[in-house]
Amino acid sequence: MADKRVTFASKIGIVAAAAGSAVGLGNIWRFPSQAADGGGAIFILVYVVCILFFGIPLMISEFMVGRAARANTAGAFNKLASGTPWKWVGRLGVLTGFMIMGFYMVVSGWTLDYFFQSISGSLSRVGDLTAHFGTIQANPWRQIAWMIAFIFLSAFFIVSGVKKGIERSAKIFMPLLFLLLIVLAVRSITLEGAASGLNFLFRPDLADVKSTLFLDAMGQAFFSLSLGMGCMITYGSYFNNNTDLAKTSIQVSTLDILVAILAGVVIFPSAFALTANPETIVDKLVAGGPGLLFITLPELFNQMPLSMMWSALFFCLLALAALTSTISLMEVVTLYLHEEYRISRKKSTLLVTSGAIVLGIFSSYSALFFNVLDIATAKFMLPVGGFFICLFVGWKLKRNLVLLQLTNEGELPTRAKLLKPYLFLVRYVVPIAILSIFIYGLAG
Ligand code: PHE
Repeated sequence: MADKRVTFASKIGIVAAAAGSAVGLGNIWRFPSQAADGGGAIFILVYVVCILFFGIPLMISEFMVGRAARANTAGAFNKLASGTPWKWVGRLGVLTGFMIMGFYMVVSGWTLDYFFQSISGSLSRVGDLTAHFGTIQANPWRQIAWMIAFIFLSAFFIVSGVKKGIERSAKIFMPLLFLLLIVLAVRSITLEGAASGLNFLFRPDLADVKSTLFLDAMGQAFFSLSLGMGCMITYGSYFNNNTDLAKTSIQVSTLDILVAILAGVVIFPSAFALTANPETIVDKLVAGGPGLLFITLPELFNQMPLSMMWSALFFCLLALAALTSTISLMEVVTLYLHEEYRISRKKSTLLVTSGAIVLGIFSSYSALFFNVLDIATAKFMLPVGGFFICLFVGWKLKRNLVLLQLTNEGELPTRAKLLKPYLFLVRYVVPIAILSIFIYGLAG
């Protein structure tokens, strides 16, 4: 595996970068509204099962493809199976990443907007926060301005390069994010009446189960772990030869679940504790959908002492979480252009930045466009990508290469034991499960 290609500098940097990609708006913005919609505890249960049985094996597979090929997502398939149609799986991934950016950057822009409203104190003076969010939604230019600011921020880190930009930013932001969430969670569960929120989150109620439960939970698992589009292939291509792929996948997935649950523990108990009529709170949470964070939470902050500080902390955290994810999304497309078309890193970043701005403008204008990008990527393109990546590693890659990757060429002999169960999962369990969930979910 000798090569001159750049790699991440340290073990912590690797986990931080991959976890930085995984942990994002998917955990803090998308997860709570999906969980509220899916009936709370049941959704969470299925979600965690999806992560354990599909997410972790798929993440190991993506890391493997990336590190074995040391190339961008499309280039990796081309290197490992040149002259075959497998490169289309990589290209689909790049397209998916680009489409995710198209709506993700808009929400990221909202987080910046709300952060600045928090520190300027204007947010705590707003009377009707639902109307306020509505006004912002009805003003595409305001959204576009913040979105462009956010895209430039991400581009700055991309131009700074793998080591300086991605690794360093993740190493600083990730622990900070964790700390802030814990503080807010403690604040939330010590509120009077928080128990009903925790109940909703952790007590399964079979009556709420929907026919699309599995599809929703699987889509959320893939989205949240940044899987199915080659993001982890791209990051895997920067891993060291002595990175333990299985261990890293488990660490990243654990962090990701923890942050999502923590976000739930921040949002649900405080939402239940501080509402005037708890009977309608679940409907409100579900209806809140994309606006959940931006309406419900500031409402709650406003009823707390030091509201300005809590909301500034929270939106700062949210923006940082989003940033480490947008960096990874942008890196997938940038590296693809850079390596496949031999365009300089700067020029590639410029192209991706312009493309993201165009898509973002469309999604700022049209909620329909926004939702189509969200649903098409999370519930369709990511599972399809994941399906093919598993088949690729399970059936196309040589068994010996898989073994060498799992054991780091024999340096981790105990990992050899994983080969059989791992291959069983990626050959049969994950593809069959994705296929059945798909058919069942789409029919339902
Ligand atoms: N995983 C990120 C989140 O949870 C979103 C993302 C998806 C990032 C796919 C990269 C690739 O917010």
